[in-house]
Amino acid sequence: MPPLLVWGKQGLLAQAIRRTWTNDGTILFWGRHDLPETREQQHRKICRLAPSAIVNASGFTNLRRAQAAPHLVRELHVETPAFLATVSRNLGIPFVTTSSDYVFSGHGRIAWTETDPTEPINAYGRSKLEGERAVLTSNPNAKIIRTAGLFGRAQARSKISFPERILQQARFGRVPEVRSDLTTSICHVDDLATDILKVLMSSSKGIFHVAHAGGATWLQIACYALKSAGVSSQIKAIQTPDFPRPACSTLATNRPEVLYGRSRGKTWQEALGEFMRGFCDA
Ligand SMILES: NC(=O)c1ccc[n+]([C@@H]2O[C@H](COP(=O)([O-])OP(=O)(O)OC[C@H]3O[C@@H](n4cnc5c(N)ncnc54)[C@H](OP(=O)(O)O)[C@@H]3O)[C@@H](O)[C@H]2O)c1
Repeated sequence: MPPLLVWGKQGLLAQAIRRTWTNDGTILFWGRHDLPETREQQHRKICRLAPSAIVNASGFTNLRRAQAAPHLVRELHVETPAFLATVSRNLGIPFVTTSSDYVFSGHGRIAWTETDPTEPINAYGRSKLEGERAVLTSNPNAKIIRTAGLFGRAQARSKISFPERILQQARFGRVPEVRSDLTTSICHVDDLATDILKVLMSSSKGIFHVAHAGGATWLQIACYALKSAGVSSQIKAIQTPDFPRPACSTLATNRPEVLYGRSRGKTWQEALGEFMRGFCDA
């Protein structure tokens, strides 16, 4: 059986794929340190492997660092996905890559669907949108998953996601400071991994929005996270306009049949509550 290649190894999503997909040894994870330097060498390495599909789990998530490292962002969000899309097209295999809610302006909507107009307002969003376009140009059969606000069990301290970080701060007696001016979607990364597999196995192509139903401000998410973990703490609402971010980037899907069949997806409260209750006795 030809292997399935996941591009990324230590990231939150790559680790969730490792946890949630049944792996009988045929799913391979390539981290940045496993790769030869040039695209030509990488191309040869992929061709030697002859994978059955490629999933790109790499990307940037730290927006502040992204603002300061435009070349790296371009490489990760545009060049790498476009390269993998081209290789997949040449090999005739499925390709899935990830994008972001930041492709939207955040103005004047309650939630954004796959067909809504994109208009990124910062460099991060522009790079993701450019990546989407480059992928679909290189490989019209590619599948692009836009997601947002990932949370889940982190392997490394540096990857701890927002709700767990808030919980740690509260447990150490610090008052978490959380933005109250941005409304977003969130998504448990294990659910994202499960949905990526569904999209990969389906014959559908193009763009999919994967996030839990409903939008909330980061402040509402933090409050709900602490309540679900049984921790009472003050939270300080802040507004720190560091650089432009979409005011409302809630994602909704108009392609639920591929992801959920006849059932409905979880609400953000259901998914976050489940996750945080895991910390109640920790
Ligand atoms: N986290 C979120 O809230 C969020 C929201 C919207 C969209 N997304 C998108 O979802 C995808 C997966 O995100 P994630 O949360 O799993 O990201 P993450 O935890 O930060 O992991 C980043 C991944 O990118 C790879 N990578 C390769 N070169 C890198 C470099 N120079 N610097 C940093 N990382 C590098 C890493 O490789 P190694 O495995 O070798 O470390 C790792 O697998 C990305 O495309 C991201 O943009 C995430």
